[in-house]
Amino acid sequence: MSYGYVEQTGIRCSYHGWQFNQAGECIQQPYEQVCDPSARMCKMTKIVAYRVQAKAGLLWAYMGPEPVPELPDWDLFNYKNGFAQAIFAELPCNWFQCQENSIDPIHFEWTHNNWTIRQAESEEPYVATHIKTKFEEFEYGFTYKRLRDGESEDNPMWTEGRVTLWPNGFYLGHHFEWRVPIDDYNTLSVLWVFSKVPREQEPYIQEKIPSWYGPLYDEDGKWITTHVANQDFAVWVGQGRITNREREFLGQSDRGIIMLRKRFFKELDELKNNPDFIPKALIFDAQKNKDIYLPSACGKELREGLTREQLASHPLLGPYLHDFIGQAGQPKEVQEAYEKAVGQKCQVLNSLAFMVEIKKQHNQKCHPKVAFFCSNL
Ligand SMILES: [Fe+2]
Repeated sequence: MSYGYVEQTGIRCSYHGWQFNQAGECIQQPYEQVCDPSARMCKMTKIVAYRVQAKAGLLWAYMGPEPVPELPDWDLFNYKNGFAQAIFAELPCNWFQCQENSIDPIHFEWTHNNWTIRQAESEEPYVATHIKTKFEEFEYGFTYKRLRDGESEDNPMWTEGRVTLWPNGFYLGHHFEWRVPIDDYNTLSVLWVFSKVPREQEPYIQEKIPSWYGPLYDEDGKWITTHVANQDFAVWVGQGRITNREREFLGQSDRGIIMLRKRFFKELDELKNNPDFIPKALIFDAQKNKDIYLPSACGKELREGLTREQLASHPLLGPYLHDFIGQAGQPKEVQEAYEKAVGQKCQVLNSLAFMVEIKKQHNQKCHPKVAFFCSNL
């Protein structure tokens, strides 16, 4: 049915033209009804149907039992004067090893920062190392906080941190990532990225949120590892289709992962044993489901706006003015729409060269700042 044709009254199967309405009831079987105008078989035919809702440029399907919870109205969806885009990739591994990465602060240092430096064959030193991490549970998931050498405790990555969104998301202040299970061996990765336009471009109203699929492999069939999400993909899939956890060594950096797993086991036991159990993070109160706040290291800037100059030098948001470092393969038309929104051309530097250049600019003279920049990638 994913190749069915969408029509006013339902979706039509591309095999024999049977049409189904939104409740999954068959409402037309063309040839069968020629043979039997009473449409007896049609009335008896039904397929599984899921509730679907459009929000933030995405279609969301609810596939669980009644009662149906609210589709969360996260505050980032409602920020004004921004350019949003949704990016997909299908990954050949189990979704949970992707999600465990949502509570893994240490990997930023090695998978994104230092690996980028080494891939660029740069002689730059490694970035400041992590010295402290903290993991906490809250209503909608977990937060992690992290401090690097040279940073003070008023750093937003320590005061606000980042959100491991229950059960399969990651919220980084200016974008979401979801790891949607396709089956036990395949995951749909979804990024939803919000880029604030400079204050000089306000008011900006985005007419349409574009979406695109990014490639996983380069022309030699090797994993693309130039962009942030692609670096993640390589380390998630590199663990195998389903990680063999009997052979793992969990360390201090994995304390968040242990918390996450314990919560999952607890929820699964409850679901099995208690028919009235309500899983974590579900919202049933429509009044409560309005502009829900999630901790963010850049929420104030995204709400209030930044001048072009402030935006360009912002450690987290600035890089996106130059190049879409989030995931490889951004189509030209999306890049052009973004450039129109922000009112300037992107330099579209090679992502590796760009990151190394930024590090070069900050590394020696401004150690805490580079730590902040890198910590936010
Ligand atoms: Fe990552």
